[in-house]
Amino acid sequence: MKVLIIGSGGREHALAWKISQSPLLTKLYAAPGNPGIARLAECRPIQSDDLAGLLNFAKTENIDLTVVGPESPLVAGITDEFQKAGLKIFGPSKAAATLEGSKAFAKDQMNKFGIPTAPYEIFSHINEAKHYCVETDMPVVIKADGLAAGKGVVICQTSQEAVAALTQIMSEGIFGDAGKKVVIEKMVEGEELSVLALSDGKKILPLASSQDHKRVYDGDRGPNTGGMGAYSPCPFISEEKFREIVDIAIRPMIQGMAAEGNPYRGLLYAGIMMTKNGPVVLEYNCRFGDPETQVVLPRLKSDLLQICAEIAAGEIKTESLEWHEKACLGVVLASGGYPGFYHKDYVIDGLEGVSHLEDAVVFHAGTAFGPEGRIVTSGGRVLTVSALGENLRAAHDRAYTVIGQIHFQGGFYRRDIGRRALEVLR
Ligand code: GLY
Repeated sequence: MKVLIIGSGGREHALAWKISQSPLLTKLYAAPGNPGIARLAECRPIQSDDLAGLLNFAKTENIDLTVVGPESPLVAGITDEFQKAGLKIFGPSKAAATLEGSKAFAKDQMNKFGIPTAPYEIFSHINEAKHYCVETDMPVVIKADGLAAGKGVVICQTSQEAVAALTQIMSEGIFGDAGKKVVIEKMVEGEELSVLALSDGKKILPLASSQDHKRVYDGDRGPNTGGMGAYSPCPFISEEKFREIVDIAIRPMIQGMAAEGNPYRGLLYAGIMMTKNGPVVLEYNCRFGDPETQVVLPRLKSDLLQICAEIAAGEIKTESLEWHEKACLGVVLASGGYPGFYHKDYVIDGLEGVSHLEDAVVFHAGTAFGPEGRIVTSGGRVLTVSALGENLRAAHDRAYTVIGQIHFQGGFYRRDIGRRALEVLR
């Protein structure tokens, strides 16, 4: 099977790493890919939002299956375009991807299908939104309705903060058109959990549980990021509890969308908050999580390519997913200043020494080829170091040993990935 992976982050490197192990694969391409993916795939400089360029490439190269990493081409309708051209593609249709493309749509779907979520209101007029924030109890979370590259969420402790955030989002347009409409919801507290599930619109194959660490600094301080590290499985969720959460957060959405004639085929990601009153869905994403993918796929025994191909063909035939017993923990190495301004083009030292380890993989994200073929930084999240271990403690220690061998100017990482989970285990 000739496969094309779309995207250039750590998630796509993990997808390429897993798919390249499949006996079904004959040739792997990536667009645009990154230097880590380039070790596994032939990379072509086609950006993931260049739908026409991607379609043309897939037709010319007779690609058998395209696997879409990021959300923006899905929300823009790449699946519909490929299917119209008779090409197989893994990822939800434009209508189904609206679960991530519109936070308001997602909240209304949750409401309709009885999925627990934080109380919310939707506003398209700034004055009404501001008036609501003056009247309602704080804290609240303001979410830009559309895609905002993972940045469109603002936590507000006071009504003054909320009013100021609304001015920035709805009037000054800091998130562009994505902020023309907002969802304002009550803040809920607890442990976060990521639930990822593969579906053909009917059958559901949940992936193993994982937890992301979204804040930039140790102790969950500082601004939100795309994710600074993750681990799998989550020790604070029993297998039985996890099945219950899938039944609460994933199954009714898959069934409800199918009943409405808008089946969800692809990977559905539910961001969950385990509140003291039970699980609450914070958001849905229409693609694999990043960095969750980098810690879940190393634990997956089953052939991901086969399942993606089955979903693209319309029906999951695989009975269930098989998992390694080992735990996996991943730490993101980021550029100094991320998630704010950061410099690029710093040479990354130490990569060769950690490129062929049995129990750890270094997934590339913000990297590029620099002068003399050296690998340099080119983004905020530069690498994810994922390590497997007999248990979470062993995976944790190994990941931190490996990441300690990689250096570039200004690079930093959180020192406490998995710490709360390790406390639970202790
Ligand atoms: N880890 C968060 C996300 O993928 O959206």
